[in-house]
Formats: sequence, C-alpha cells, structure tokens
Amino acid sequence: MNENGLRILVTRRWPAAAEHYLAERYDAAFNTEDIPLAQETLSRAFDEYDVICPTVSDKIDAAVIGAAPRRARLLANFGVGFDHIDIKACEKAGVMVTNTPGVLTDATADLAMTLMLMAARRAGEGERELRAGKWTGWRPTHLMGRQLSGKTLGLIGFGRIAQATAKRAHDGFGMNILYYSRSAAPENIERNLSAKRIGSLEELLSASDVISLHVPGGADTQNMIGAPEIAAMKPDSILINTARGGVVDHDALAAALKSGAIRVAGLDVYPEEPKIPEVLTELENVVLLPHLGSATEETREAMGRRAAANVDAFAAGAPLPDRIV
Ligand code: DGY
Repeated sequence: MNENGLRILVTRRWPAAAEHYLAERYDAAFNTEDIPLAQETLSRAFDEYDVICPTVSDKIDAAVIGAAPRRARLLANFGVGFDHIDIKACEKAGVMVTNTPGVLTDATADLAMTLMLMAARRAGEGERELRAGKWTGWRPTHLMGRQLSGKTLGLIGFGRIAQATAKRAHDGFGMNILYYSRSAAPENIERNLSAKRIGSLEELLSASDVISLHVPGGADTQNMIGAPEIAAMKPDSILINTARGGVVDHDALAAALKSGAIRVAGLDVYPEEPKIPEVLTELENVVLLPHLGSATEETREAMGRRAAANVDAFAAGAPLPDRIV
C-alpha cells in the first residue's frame, strides 16, 4: 500500500502488469485514454505529483519543468532514450531523471534486422502490390532485392543495441561488421564480437553496403546524416534508422532516395513523431515503421518493471538504479 503517500503520474498506458504494480503500492494516476498530455497538463503535474513517469512522446522541456521549488522530484522515464527531456533544466530544478537501459536491446536489434531485410528484399513494396490486387504472378525479374549475406554493415554508434545488431548480422547473416564511435573506448558488451573500428564517419559510410544508426538523439547528433554524409555512401547502399529521427536530415534523405543516390532506407523514427515527412510516404524505396523498436510484450513489460524499480528506490530513499541526473 501507499505507506509514504507518494503521488505518481504515468503519462501513457503501460502494460497492465506494470500499471497494476504501481497501483498496488502508490497513489498512482494513469492516462486511461492514452492520449498525449498537453504541455499545460504536464506542467501542472510538476506541482501535483511527487513522481512523473513520462515517455518518448512527452516533451518535457524547460517551460514544463519550470523552476524549483516544485513538488515533482523524480522523472522515471519509460524508455532508454531521454532526448525528449531537458536534462539541464531538470538538474537546475533539482529533479532526478532515470531511464530503462538494457531491457530493450534485443527487441530493438531485432527491429533493425527487420528493417534491413524489409529494405533489402523490398518486402514493403511487395506487400503493397499484393494488397492492391496488382500482383500478376511469379516471374524471374519481379521485385528483385539484394542479399545481406557477405555484405558490409556499418554501425554508427557502438552501444548495446549496435552490438546486438552486429551479432545478429554477423552470426546470423554472414555480414562483415564495421563501426564508428565517437567514444574513445566503447565498452564491449557482446562477447566474441567480430567488428572492426573505423576512424572516421566518412570512411565508414563509403565502405559499407548497409548503414545502421545507433547514436542517442539530441543536439550533438542532430542531422549527423545530411547531404554530405549521404553523398559519401555507395549508390547501392541501404540506410537504417532505429535511433532517433533527428539524426537524419529527412529532406536530404528523400532527395537521395528519389534520385537513386542511395538504394533504399528503413526508418522506425522521425524528427516530429507522429508526423511523417510527406516526401517519404510518396516513395516506394523506403520502409516506414511507427517507432516499434521496443514494441514486444516481453520488452514493454520489462521496461515497466525497470521504471517501477526506480520509483521504488526513490520511495525507499535508496540510490536510483538507473539515474541520469
Ligand atoms: C526508447 O526507449 O528510447 C525507445 O525509443 C522507445 O522504446
């Protein structure tokens, strides 16, 4: 029961077991309609709740966070990425922030592979054709794609998800793995990983057949892949983004897909979700998924448990397991 009287706001629907866990222990309010909360509602929540559990669809900016003293002391984010939260403003206002690392690695790496295969094998085009009643039957030159086996995968960023993707691509599909990372010595999380570090982004882009993005969102990586970077890619290359939409300049990408400067892209994330740049929806050579990276029952439940573990630690006055600030 809610022995310490903590009031908690969960901003979007969580898997039932995770909501139930919080409801049993705290005075928890849930967004049963699952409609994104308005900025004013989020701002008011900072005065009405001790803990807010936001997620990637909430924009927790400086205006929402305001200045201390406010009631909310913890943002227990449901998700690993936190570029939707103004971390500096939280620090200034004395608000702690936690995330849910580790538990969505496999699901997101699986989705990167899904996009790679869909893009390489033209699966979206094929399904659209069939559903539109336009399939005229098997023929030797129908919707020929490319094989992943033997191709080179270039990973940008080399954290948990990149490494899990590398393992799948190498061990499962026989791809050669290169990576580029800005960190001096990225931690090797996957064992016996066969991957070669490349010193510059340009070199990686020009040496890879498939490029997969695994860097965090935010000012440091905004438009990291723009026109000059796309120009450095092979004309036959495949670009995959399961990281954050802002990492790619979508106008430059659309122009490259249209002109054939690169072959195809597979995207799960967009700069202003849920808006999808119209230029992209009109193109055949791009696979578009609605931010499904972590969307498995197992993973979303684990994310709920992980966020709740941070709330529990806060309630107990213990160190927060996944503290960012
Ligand atoms: C995250 O956790 O940051 C994902 O983008 C949503 O699962």
